[in-house]
Amino acid sequence: MINRQVEDSAYPANAVRLPQELWIQPVNNTSDVLRDDPDEHIPHTTFLFRGDAQLEDVIDLGLQAYREGESEHQFSVVSAGSSVGAEAYGVLAYLSAVAPDLGRVSLVGVDILPRLSDAAQAAQYRTTRPFFSDVERDPADTLPRFGFALEPYRDPIITSGLYSVDASKIRDAHDVEFRVGDLRNPNLEIPEANLILANNLLFHLSPDAAETVVRNLLVS
Ligand SMILES: C[S@@+](CC[C@H](N)C(=O)[O-])C[C@H]1O[C@@H](n2cnc3c(N)ncnc32)[C@H](O)[C@@H]1O
Repeated sequence: MINRQVEDSAYPANAVRLPQELWIQPVNNTSDVLRDDPDEHIPHTTFLFRGDAQLEDVIDLGLQAYREGESEHQFSVVSAGSSVGAEAYGVLAYLSAVAPDLGRVSLVGVDILPRLSDAAQAAQYRTTRPFFSDVERDPADTLPRFGFALEPYRDPIITSGLYSVDASKIRDAHDVEFRVGDLRNPNLEIPEANLILANNLLFHLSPDAAETVVRNLLVS
């Protein structure tokens, strides 16, 4: 938080800034999509606008390289370890705000667990706790500007301050696909991309597995 505030002063007043990270979980029939299976040992947790300021910088670099290349191809993104799609929709929301001329962006998310990819495709979430503190703004002030539809969400225990978050409009404005695959598999087909995001993926893999994943992503 302190870092973000310091960095804020360095940004031009009219720069598009992502909202701060927002904890969400998918809304579906099972409601336990993000559970940690004892035999998997894989953390799935994710936030909307994961690593906000850092994410902006990475996207800006990818965009700059794309512009300099004067490519006629569609701008393309891979979200490696896409979980329930929070990173994917955050990236698309930001790209639409800073580079609307790109039109439809191609985004492929890859995750090892089918239930996560299904939830990502569904694009229906809810916030998980009230967000009315000094440092956290009400998501209703920021998310609709980035294309997310919000409605009050009633939880049996917390009765105010929660929202359902619908990212389907963002999904449908782009060419979005969530695939199931193990990124350690060298035969996995990963499309070429202008921007490859692998936020919070490598740290929980063994050094050998992490190296294989990076190699696979770079070959793509
Ligand atoms: C901690 S989450 C990070 C999600 C998102 N990238 C973010 O930063 O918010 C890590 C994700 O990587 C996925 N994952 C772990 N190992 C994987 C592998 N070998 N192949 C594909 N996905 C994997 C997990 O299922 C999980 O959804």
